[in-house]
Amino acid sequence: MYTSMKEMLDHANENNYAVMAINCTNMEQARAICYAAAEEASPVIINVSPRQMLAHATPEIMVPMIRAIAEPLDVPIAFNLDHGDTYTNVCRCLRAGFSSVMIDSSSYEFEENIRRTRMVTSVAHAYGASVEAELGHVGVAANGDGQTSDMYTNVEQAVEFADRTHCDCLAVAIGTAHGAYPDDFVPRLDFDRLAELKAATKMPLVLHGGSGAGEENIRRVVELGINKINVCTDLFKHQRKAMHAKLNEEPNIDYMDIQMWGEDAAKDYIKSYMRMIGSSGRYTFDYTGEQFD
Ligand code: 13P
Repeated sequence: MYTSMKEMLDHANENNYAVMAINCTNMEQARAICYAAAEEASPVIINVSPRQMLAHATPEIMVPMIRAIAEPLDVPIAFNLDHGDTYTNVCRCLRAGFSSVMIDSSSYEFEENIRRTRMVTSVAHAYGASVEAELGHVGVAANGDGQTSDMYTNVEQAVEFADRTHCDCLAVAIGTAHGAYPDDFVPRLDFDRLAELKAATKMPLVLHGGSGAGEENIRRVVELGINKINVCTDLFKHQRKAMHAKLNEEPNIDYMDIQMWGEDAAKDYIKSYMRMIGSSGRYTFDYTGEQFD
C-alpha cells in the first residue's frame, strides 16, 4: 500500500525499531525495495533526492510507477523527497503525488530553518503528506564532515524546533556523513547526545548517511531511538558490483537479464538490512491510516 511515513514511523518509535529509507532512481530499484518489503513484511520508504530527480528520475515519472508497484502490496510503502531544498521543488513533488517530503534547511540559521520548515509542514500536511526536517547538519564524508561536534544537533533546540514546525520526524546530526568514508574509517557516533535527543523530543528520529556507518553503530543507534535510516551509497555500490561481476562472467547476457540480476542483488541486500534494524515482520500491526490519495 502507498502511505505517508507518519504512521509507520510512529509505530517504529513506540516499538523501538527503524525503517529503511532507500534512494531509488529507476524501476528495478523501486521493485527491489517494494518486493523486499513485501517478502519481509516490513514497512519501507523510497527516497529520491533533488539531484536524482532533476538529472534522471522526475517526480511525474516516478510517482505513478511507484504507486503501481506499491499499491497491490500488503505493506506500507512511502515515497519521500530526500533533502528537499526549495519550496518550488517540494510543491512540485506534492502535486505529483509524493506521500512525504523532507525539507532540509539545516544550513540556515535556527529561526530561518524554522520558518522554511513551517511553510512546508503547512502545505504538505494539507496534502496528507508527512514531513521530515533536519536540525544540526549532516555533511559529506569526503569532506571529513561529522568528525567534530560543531554541526551536531542541540537538544534544547530540537525540542523547540519540533514544537514550532510540527514536523513528523527529525533528522539529527550525531557523527555520520553522506557518501563513502575513507577506507577503514568507521565514524564515532555521539550516542549520549542521541539518547538525550530521544528523551527530550520523544519523536521519530532519522539517521542520514547510513552507508559505511558500521553494523555495531547501526544496531546501537536503533536501540537508542533512531527510527529511519537513510541508505544510498552502500546499496548502489552493492548493486553495481553484482552487475559488474555478472557481466564479467557472461559478457553477452541479455540486457533485461542483467537488469533483473541487479534487482535481485539489491533486494537481497535490503532484506538483510531490514532484519538488522528490526523492521522485518513488523507489518503485523493494524494499519489504521488511509491509503495515500
Ligand atoms: P549514504 O549515501 O551515506 O547512505 O547517505 C544516504 C542519505 O543519507 C540520503 O539522504
